[in-house]
Amino acid sequence: MLTTNSRIRIQDAMRSAFPAAEQRVARFYQMQEYQLGWRNEQLQPASYDPGKLLRPLLALLACRAAGGQPEQALPLAAGIQLIHDFSLIHDDIEDNSDTRRGRPTVWTIWGLAQGINTGDGMFVVAHLALHQLAERGLPAEVVLEVLKRFDQTILTICEGQFLDISFEGDLSISEADYLAMISRKTAALVAAAAGLGAIVGGADQATATALFDFGQHMGLAFQIQDDVLGIWGDPEVTGKPFAADLYRRKLSLPVIHALASSDQRAALAELYRQSELSDADVQQVLNILNGTGSRGYTEGVAAHHHQRSLNALASVAGGDQSALAELRSISEGLVGRRR
Ligand code: IPE
Ligand code: IPE
Ligand code: MG
Ligand code: MG
Repeated sequence: MLTTNSRIRIQDAMRSAFPAAEQRVARFYQMQEYQLGWRNEQLQPASYDPGKLLRPLLALLACRAAGGQPEQALPLAAGIQLIHDFSLIHDDIEDNSDTRRGRPTVWTIWGLAQGINTGDGMFVVAHLALHQLAERGLPAEVVLEVLKRFDQTILTICEGQFLDISFEGDLSISEADYLAMISRKTAALVAAAAGLGAIVGGADQATATALFDFGQHMGLAFQIQDDVLGIWGDPEVTGKPFAADLYRRKLSLPVIHALASSDQRAALAELYRQSELSDADVQQVLNILNGTGSRGYTEGVAAHHHQRSLNALASVAGGDQSALAELRSISEGLVGRRR
């Protein structure tokens, strides 16, 4: 399956997980479709950026790498992307973010309450997608195993989001605390995409473990780069607001690194202790981060996890070589990503 074709098939599988809606509740589903890029603000059919679809692509490739047919993993791929989008709808509420993929976030258009409802709906539709694995002939005990691991993963994401919000403005957070947080909020789902894709493809234990590991480290590198973009990203390219993580006083890795620098800690701490940061404050934080070399340090940590993801992939014995090569090239393509 070529990537463009895969993107279409993934979105078709996502569409097919939605129930036929009664007129009365049509807008409930249409708001979910807005998030997915399928409708505009007036809830008319449209075609906007659906996101990179990184996680579902990994699921399909991992299935193929394990010797399965990618079609078998389409319901899994759809469910994983729907859970990702569920987490983004709620994340934008939690982070007070008004822009996602270059468009207004769900909650800014329809309010907090309907934002929560939209996310909740998508959480359930994601599960309905996974149930379609049985219709593709996957044995019931494997479907149950995948569903169980899927739910464990979502709970882990929620733990990560809990930690992320708890850390805001807490200057005692260490790099170890930070890694514990991002391994939950982000890496867990990337790991599940690759690992569960492999399981659906019939992988043996060692291959499934290697692919989980690959996804885990790729997910860590991915989030660490997201933290770079959350400070230095170009809003035109990321589709997210300027320096959003600084305005939100996030304890992301560059900030943790700068706080560890003895001559800058006091100045940065003073800025971060305020309940709100003005544009001038954010500029000052940026100056401090630029002076402490925190971007280079952070990119180095991302590179370390990128290398570990490649090592895990290289440990897969046998398997479909072309799928493994595609997985490697996806991982390579994320290094220094700008979006
Ligand atoms: C955004 O994920 C949230 C993070 C975990 C960093 P993506 O960067 O994959 O978002 P989309 O789906 O491509 O918009
Ligand atoms: C995203 O975290 C993680 C989840 C949504 C679970 P962030 O808050 O760091 O991601 P962006 O920068 O808003 O996409
Ligand atoms: Mg967040
Ligand atoms: Mg966010």
